[in-house]
Amino acid sequence: MKSLPDFDMVLFGGTGDLAMRKLLPALYQQVKTGRVNPASRILAAARREMSKAEFLALAEATCRPFLGEAYDAETWNAFAARVDYFPMDVRKPESYGPLAAALGVHPERIRVFYYSTAPEFFATMSANLGAAGLISTRSRVVVEKPLGHDLDSSRTINDAIGEHFAERQIFRIDHYLGKEPVQNLLALRFGNVLFEPLWRREWVQDVQITVAEQLGMEGRGDFYDRTGALRDMLQNHLLQLLCIVAMEPPTGSDPDAVRDEKLKVLRSLKPFTAADVATKTVRGQYQAGAAAGMPVAAYVEESGVDADSRTETFVAVKAEIDTWRWAGVPFFLRTGKRMPDKLAEIVINFRPVPHPIFGESAHGGRANRLIIRMQPDESMRLYLVAKQPGEAMALQPVNLNLDFAESFRDRRLEAYERLLMDAIRGKLTLFVRRDEQEAAWRWVEPILDQWEASEDRPRNYTAGSWGPAASSALLSRDGLAWNEEY
Ligand code: BG6
Repeated sequence: MKSLPDFDMVLFGGTGDLAMRKLLPALYQQVKTGRVNPASRILAAARREMSKAEFLALAEATCRPFLGEAYDAETWNAFAARVDYFPMDVRKPESYGPLAAALGVHPERIRVFYYSTAPEFFATMSANLGAAGLISTRSRVVVEKPLGHDLDSSRTINDAIGEHFAERQIFRIDHYLGKEPVQNLLALRFGNVLFEPLWRREWVQDVQITVAEQLGMEGRGDFYDRTGALRDMLQNHLLQLLCIVAMEPPTGSDPDAVRDEKLKVLRSLKPFTAADVATKTVRGQYQAGAAAGMPVAAYVEESGVDADSRTETFVAVKAEIDTWRWAGVPFFLRTGKRMPDKLAEIVINFRPVPHPIFGESAHGGRANRLIIRMQPDESMRLYLVAKQPGEAMALQPVNLNLDFAESFRDRRLEAYERLLMDAIRGKLTLFVRRDEQEAAWRWVEPILDQWEASEDRPRNYTAGSWGPAASSALLSRDGLAWNEEY
C-alpha cells in the first residue's frame, strides 16, 4: 500500500451534493485505508456561515448513509481531524484571507483545488486564487462536468482557468473513467491478444452503450432543466466509454498516449447533418409512471422544472466512426432517467457465423456477444454458442462469466476515490484533456442546435420504461435490437 504525499485539498462547494455524497466519503475511505498521512488537510469551503464543528456534524450526518458499513466512529474521528471549514463567498477576493492563511502554513505542499460548484464560478475562483497568490507549481485544479453548455462556453471557461493553471495542472473529471469495469475493459483489450484481431468491423456487428438510471431529479430539477441528458451524460460519460471501446492501442499508459488515441476517435465521429439528427437521434421526456414499484410524477411536475419544459431526460443516438477499423459499425448510445433499472453496460455484438452448418433453425441466428457491466453488478460476460444436451443438434448461448466481486475479494475503489488519489499524485491519464472535451462538444453541437431549432417536443415515455418507442426503431431500421439480457 503506497501512502499519498502530504496534500492540502480545498473543496469549493463543500456543503453541496457532490461533496457530501461522493468526495468526502471517498476521502474518508482513503483515510480508512491508511493512505492519508495525518498531516494532510481537507479544507472545505462554502457560502454557509457555520463553525468547523457544525460543518463536521453536518458532514457526518449526511455522509454516513453513503458510507454504509464502512463507517466507524474511530475512522471518522481520524478523518475529521484532517478537515477544516471556511465560510466564504468565492466571488469576493476579500473572502480568501482565512483560506490563504491556512494554506500559507505549508507553501511547499501539493494543493488540489476541487471546483465542485456551478461552472459559472470557475473563472472567478481561478482569478481570485491567482490574485491571492495561492496557485503554485505544485497546485492542481479539478473541474466537474459539464464544463459549459456548448463549445463556445466551454472554451471561455477553459481559457479563464488556463490563465492561472497550465494544462498539466487541470484535471477535468469524468467519473466514468474511474470505474473499475472501465479499467478492466482497458485490461481486457490491451492485456490480452484474444480480442484484438476481432475488435474491428470485420467481426463486430454493432456496439451498444447504455447508462440507465431509475432515479428522477432528486432535487436537482433546476440544474437538470437547464442541462438535459445529452449535456449531462452523453457529451461526457457515454462518449468517453465509446472512446475506450473504439480507440487504437496506445503506445503506453502515459496520459498523452491514451488521450491522443481517445481524441482521434472523437475526431473521427461522423458529423451529424440536420437530416441525420432527425433519423439518428431520439430524445424523450418521462411522463408519470412507476419506479421500484411506486408511482412517480412526470418530469414537468418535478420541483425546479419548467411546466412546459422541452428538456430531454432520455437520449439515444446512432454514432458512426469514420476509420478503417470501424467504418459501417453503428455505435448505439442511450441514457435516461426514470428507466426500469440502474443499468450501465457496454455490449459488443459480434457478427453471426458466415455459414450456419447446423442450419438456421438450430443456430437460431445467435452470435457471440461480450457484455461489460458496470451496474448493478460489475462483470464481464462472453456469450458463446454451445450444443444443448440431448439428441438433437440444437444450439444455445452459454456465457463465460467473470464476476469481479467473486473473482477478486479486495474492496473495490469507488470511481471518485481513484480519481481524487490520481489528482493528488498528479496522474492525468484518467482525466479529459481540453482538446478531447472540445471535440466532444463539436460533435454534439449539431444535435443541440437542431433540437433547439425544431418545433418538436421530446417524445414521451412512461417513467419505468426503456424510453420512447422510437429508441427501438433507431436499431430496428438496421435490423438490430437493444440487448435485453438483464
Ligand atoms: C452525473 C450526472 O455525472 O452522473 C448525474 O450529473 C447522474 O445526473 C450521475 O445521476 C450518474 O453516475 P453514476 O456513477 O451513479 O452512474
